Amino acid sequence: METTAAESRDLQLRKFAFGEEDFAALRELVKTHTGIHLSEQKRELVYGRLSRRLRALGLDSFRAYRQILERGDSDELVQFCNAITTNLTSFFREAHHFDYLREQVLAPRAADARGPRRLRFWSAGCSSGEEPYSLAMTIHEALADARRWDIKILATDLDTDVLARGQRGVYEEDRVRGLPRARLERFFSAVDGGKSPSYAVTEELRDLITFRELNLMHSLPMKGPFDAIFCRNVIIYFDKDTQRQLFERIARLQRPGDLLFLGHSESLYRVSDAYTLVGKTIYRRA
Ligand SMILES: C[S@@+](CC[C@H](N)C(=O)[O-])C[C@H]1O[C@@H](n2cnc3c(N)ncnc32)[C@H](O)[C@@H]1O
Repeated sequence: METTAAESRDLQLRKFAFGEEDFAALRELVKTHTGIHLSEQKRELVYGRLSRRLRALGLDSFRAYRQILERGDSDELVQFCNAITTNLTSFFREAHHFDYLREQVLAPRAADARGPRRLRFWSAGCSSGEEPYSLAMTIHEALADARRWDIKILATDLDTDVLARGQRGVYEEDRVRGLPRARLERFFSAVDGGKSPSYAVTEELRDLITFRELNLMHSLPMKGPFDAIFCRNVIIYFDKDTQRQLFERIARLQRPGDLLFLGHSESLYRVSDAYTLVGKTIYRRA
């Protein structure tokens, strides 16, 4: 979680009073509502991200803002979570995961003419959709007749702003720049995006994905089982206890052999023994 230049500037200006007590209470609220553990060093980040909310609400102190949250104002709690989360993502981020999925799951399934033609995926912490759409592209590239399979990708996040962007499926040029031309031509169509050209994902990708709001701190309403779960660059912000509780629940949604992908700096070491490491940040349900 980096602090942007604008956020640092805001902090220096110190428009709103922001005492130790405010920071401590807000850290606690962040932990309770998102699972995210903010260290002492995240003062600037909290100030920068939440001062936008104070401005939007016409408040002049963090104390007044805390009172709204502590009262349990559900609309503001959503905005609060949206402001705090870090949503960095990109198409085919950590590309080796998609290679593994293609080689170890999709290609063997495609070659097995008599095998089941049903696959379930979950992108947990999907941000603005690049991850589930990358998954959908990988599926269509690996399975020539994917439309005739029973395939579903569930894409969830607690941040309603990014979810809406994922659901819309329209990306500015800089977001799709890294994609090879063949993928861009097959899976996107150029749309009039105002200032710069934008690209909309095709129905072929959309049809595979369902976007849903879901807080990983709450109960998981899905039955599973999921052939593969992508939970990448999400738990990095959680403490070990929170991670343990989460993977206890996630493990119940998978059968032995099913796959779990974590982010590049994440691991299940001392978190869960329900999985075996089979590749770089790739796990199989034991
Ligand atoms: C850094 S992004 C990672 C996006 C994508 N998985 C990737 O690796 O490119 C982390 C996402 O996790 C979401 N997130 C954080 N805490 C969450 C929680 N408690 N429940 C659900 N999503 C959460 C954030 O809103 C954010 O969109």
